[in-house]
Amino acid sequence: MYILGIESSCDDTSVALLDCSDDSFVVLAEKTASQVDVHKKYGGVVPELAGRMHAENILPVVEEVMNEWREKMGEQHALPDVIAATTGPGLITGLLVGAEVAKNLSYFWNVPMIAMNHIEGHIHSVFVSQQTTDNSKQNAIPLSVDRSPSSLTFPALCLIVSGGHTELVLMRDFGEYDLLGKTRDDAAGEAFDKVGKLLGFEYPGGPKISKLATDGNTNAIQFPRPMLKSDDYDFSFAGLKTAALYELRDRPLQNEQEKKDFCASFEQAIVDVLVEKTKRAAKEYHVHTIILGGGVSANPKLRTELQIMIQEMPQAQLLVPSPQYSMDNGAMIAATAYMKAKKKEFTEWQDVVVNPNWEVYDK
Ligand code: KG4
Ligand code: ZN
Repeated sequence: MYILGIESSCDDTSVALLDCSDDSFVVLAEKTASQVDVHKKYGGVVPELAGRMHAENILPVVEEVMNEWREKMGEQHALPDVIAATTGPGLITGLLVGAEVAKNLSYFWNVPMIAMNHIEGHIHSVFVSQQTTDNSKQNAIPLSVDRSPSSLTFPALCLIVSGGHTELVLMRDFGEYDLLGKTRDDAAGEAFDKVGKLLGFEYPGGPKISKLATDGNTNAIQFPRPMLKSDDYDFSFAGLKTAALYELRDRPLQNEQEKKDFCASFEQAIVDVLVEKTKRAAKEYHVHTIILGGGVSANPKLRTELQIMIQEMPQAQLLVPSPQYSMDNGAMIAATAYMKAKKKEFTEWQDVVVNPNWEVYDK
């Protein structure tokens, strides 16, 4: 099944064309127009600007992907079998652009459409393999067996960590989700970005903090581990951000090594809480799979510590996305849509409604 995936919920206009089957999601063409250079001046994503840029970028990006795919197919007028677009959660300004383009294409091409949840996309990003992006189906390396959706064993625990979300979601089957816990204030990525800003980094600060942290001492500063011991699966990162602010105010960093130590200590505090709560939930719900998703899943420290944790759980497997599919991308939207298309869960274009607050576990 050929699926066109469109993602525009934040600051990336990303479109991908995938060849999907039960065993693999092969990326045949993809293109992302990033807006980071525009937003970095403002220290975060400006919704109004994001909407305008999505509107400018989306058709050229769709055109490029379609041309590339058609060239490969050797067919000038080939159409996908399904069009999928993120319709929530996210910034309304961007969601509207992606949804409207998908609706138009669905109408004019007479191709069924699926309205996709962004978080569900991140969950399925683990099935999109980097190796498949050499853009040639013939040369694509198939996903290893334990990476194919057909081998996912339930229940699965999804740790979703992005700029807007930090959630532990229990996945009982494809499309069946229950919320176990979520952040009560800032998301993990948001905390990284805000503290990055305090350190003078351009948006997004997360990748810069994690890069400097590599050479830092994680024990240099004792940052709090908010809600580590709380009797639930909720998170809170606003206090940690304030602790970072006071630390910088009271003990300004003197040199590059102190900056690295600060980053390493801060990153460790976030990772400790995420890993501990994930571990506890995995044990309580006897999960067979742990899925890591969302932009913060690119964080090497978090990936490594989850890898260490899973070794103590012989009954469970850990699935993490290829780093290139950790951040927002159209491929994960197309991949998720395949699971819906198999069940014929299409949305008539007339019935598509964008919802900036659509939770993946909403029934
Ligand atoms: O999922 P995503 O691309 O967009 C949202 O849906 O929010 O996530 C973006 C977030 C940003 O907050 C960014 O700082 C964070 O992911 N991020 C990281 C790293 N790479 C991206 N945070 C920590 N370490 C990283 N290596
Ligand atoms: Zn995202």
